[in-house]
Amino acid sequence: MYNFEYQNPVKIIFGKGEIAKTGMNIPEGSKILLTYGGGSIFKNGVYDQVKASVKDFEVIEFGGIEPNPHYETLMKAVELVKKEQITFLLSVGGGSVLDGTKFIAAAALFTQGDPWLILSKQAKVESALPIGAVLTLPATGSEMNGNSVVTRVETTEKLSFASLLVMPHFSILDPEVIFSLPEKQVANGIVDAFVHVIEQYLTFPVNSPIQDRFAESILKTLVEEGPKVLANRTDYDAAANLMWSATMALNGLIGVGVPQDWATHMIGHELTAYHGIDHARTLAIVLPGIMHIERVQKKDKIMQLGKEVWGISVGTDDERIDQTIGKMIEFFESVGIPTKLPDYGVSTEFIDTVCKRFQQRGFKIGEKANIGPAEIRMILEDRL
Ligand code: NZQ
Ligand code: ZN
Repeated sequence: MYNFEYQNPVKIIFGKGEIAKTGMNIPEGSKILLTYGGGSIFKNGVYDQVKASVKDFEVIEFGGIEPNPHYETLMKAVELVKKEQITFLLSVGGGSVLDGTKFIAAAALFTQGDPWLILSKQAKVESALPIGAVLTLPATGSEMNGNSVVTRVETTEKLSFASLLVMPHFSILDPEVIFSLPEKQVANGIVDAFVHVIEQYLTFPVNSPIQDRFAESILKTLVEEGPKVLANRTDYDAAANLMWSATMALNGLIGVGVPQDWATHMIGHELTAYHGIDHARTLAIVLPGIMHIERVQKKDKIMQLGKEVWGISVGTDDERIDQTIGKMIEFFESVGIPTKLPDYGVSTEFIDTVCKRFQQRGFKIGEKANIGPAEIRMILEDRL
């Protein structure tokens, strides 16, 4: 196992009815900016619960944060924060609202020039406004990490930054928010969380059984509980298990001391930036291609995945690898997520564009930093 440091200060408040605790977790006298998305919170009662809880505070609202939050929109919120001298940000929504709020928190106090530098040049975040989160969609893990992904429409770039300073002070996870989620978003959440685990697990062995078994237990839980939520949106127990799985998948714990990949995400972000395909769907397309192309490098872990999650233990190594990839594709498709580029109307020209972009960036990706434009071409051609 590699050396590591782990620090996670996020207070998790989990369970039915817990949104009522929002106000009591915000410092007295705070001037709050409540951030939200396209309005789902008005239809499912989440807004009313939050407002009742923060009734003793001065609250200004900023809505309209898009899925895959836009830099252009977030900068309007930054202006509002400065004008109104906001002291606390309250994110009420899914991963996009929370990621957007993290960027607002950092950009509002950024003193080194254009806040875009935080994303484009990884400029250091030296301070950030405090954030609280009421999560309405289990998927990204953003509620318990310091990551944020932002899209700049003007340049079709989807970039990320990470800082301990933008980790929420608290995150409220009430599984009942899942009851109002459309099928598509539940499926996206299951697959996004699944691939988060894979990015930190499906690399090469470094003798880390704790991380491996944690990872496998999250994968198994997603495979078992995800379909229950899809079949019955008001199955509270299944919703609770799905929600906690998604948080555990990307709160840093399973990734300590082990190699990490993230190539699926980096290639997937291009599919969202150019074609607007939902984040999780891009991952379902790219991951099987990566597993095919890297079947030698990832052999031990692919076989471990197949055995532990789907009980695949007979056949030659190659047969077991093929069966594991096949089972995974079957799982993604069973929750309603197609896994091939043509399923989304993406043409071969896109492959050229992405390869060119990675060529310009000049760095390679993956746990061994050996995936460059040529490998990306093979991965995407595998998905045609
Ligand atoms: O905008 P509203 O009206 O709220 O509707 C949203 C949105 O249309 C809707 N929704 C959310 N909660 C709902 C609901 N509808 C009904 N009932 C509810 N309870 O769902 C739609 C999608 O929401 P969004 O926040 O975009 O989804 P998600 O949570 O999957 O977030 C995706 C974003 O997170 C980034 C992705 O790249 C993408 O931009 N990621 C962030 C990560 C992180 N911070 O660590 C890691 C991930 O890998 C990911 O990259
Ligand atoms: Zn993701």
